Amino acid sequence: MSEKLELHQNIFKLKKEKNAIILSHNYQIEEVQLAADFLGDSLELSRKAAGLSQAMIVFAGVKFMAETAKILAPEKKVLLPRLDAGCPMADMITVDELREMKSRHPGAMVVTYVNSSVEIKAESDVCCTSANAVHVVENLPAKEIIFIPDQNLGSYVQKLVPAKKVILFEGFCYVHHRIKKEEIGAMRARYPRARVIVHPEVRPEVREVADEVLSTSGMLNYVKNSPAHEFIVATEQGLLQRMKRENPSKEFFPAGAPKICSNMKRTTLMDIYDSLQEEKYVIEMDPAISKRAGQALREMLKYG
Ligand code: 13P
Ligand code: SF4
Repeated sequence: MSEKLELHQNIFKLKKEKNAIILSHNYQIEEVQLAADFLGDSLELSRKAAGLSQAMIVFAGVKFMAETAKILAPEKKVLLPRLDAGCPMADMITVDELREMKSRHPGAMVVTYVNSSVEIKAESDVCCTSANAVHVVENLPAKEIIFIPDQNLGSYVQKLVPAKKVILFEGFCYVHHRIKKEEIGAMRARYPRARVIVHPEVRPEVREVADEVLSTSGMLNYVKNSPAHEFIVATEQGLLQRMKRENPSKEFFPAGAPKICSNMKRTTLMDIYDSLQEEKYVIEMDPAISKRAGQALREMLKYG
């Protein structure tokens, strides 16, 4: 038996023994995606975590995602296989900076992208993901919205919800923010029949040259249902692997060189095994902060 197969079988055995489930984000390495019981975008993973029957969740993703699962399912043991899998954007805003923004805009409601710390969520009115940010802001009972931490997702929301004033913070994702519109132009010239789909974390000028702006699961649905056969996909490379697997007759090209989130790529199959075996690393948070963050997350889930 190959080593990989043996590892898969041992993971399967441990999952049964410990009544555990593996949740994975679309950006994980392919062998981890394939070992997961559920693969999805941030919104799908949050919803899944909130309604599970298993006692233990192994979260193959980054820290804010595992924290979100723990907040929404506090009675479960939530494990993050790699402690060093963080999201740099989530650490870009401090509580003091947010409080300062709030004091400058006392009538505004705070909408916080889930790519944020638990402390920031706790200071927010509602959370959002890339899949529901527009819908959340559209339906909030406030004319002024403080949108943190991603400036690009925030400016996309502002464009689609012009009736509201969206106050931005200067956070960004180092993977998406570095994609250039020239890269899209060069790929379009090479593949003129391809549809260009981009994640809302890209810069506004990149968004402007795209055919569609979509969350990772929005992209998956789009390529599945589109009559087109070629797609230029401006997001992290892990998603392109899933697209190819699920749509073998279609072609997927990155926007220039493949875009890699090194944090998402840290978790290996061996880390998943160790995590299950040794029950590490347990996600724990201050209960009072976690309770307040939970209010903002549950508020988001009400928006459908
Ligand atoms: P999605 O919610 O679209 O999967 O995005 C999460 C993320 O981290 C994007 O960089
Ligand atoms: Fe964070 Fe960007 Fe990585 Fe997503 S792709 S986890 S936003 S650094």
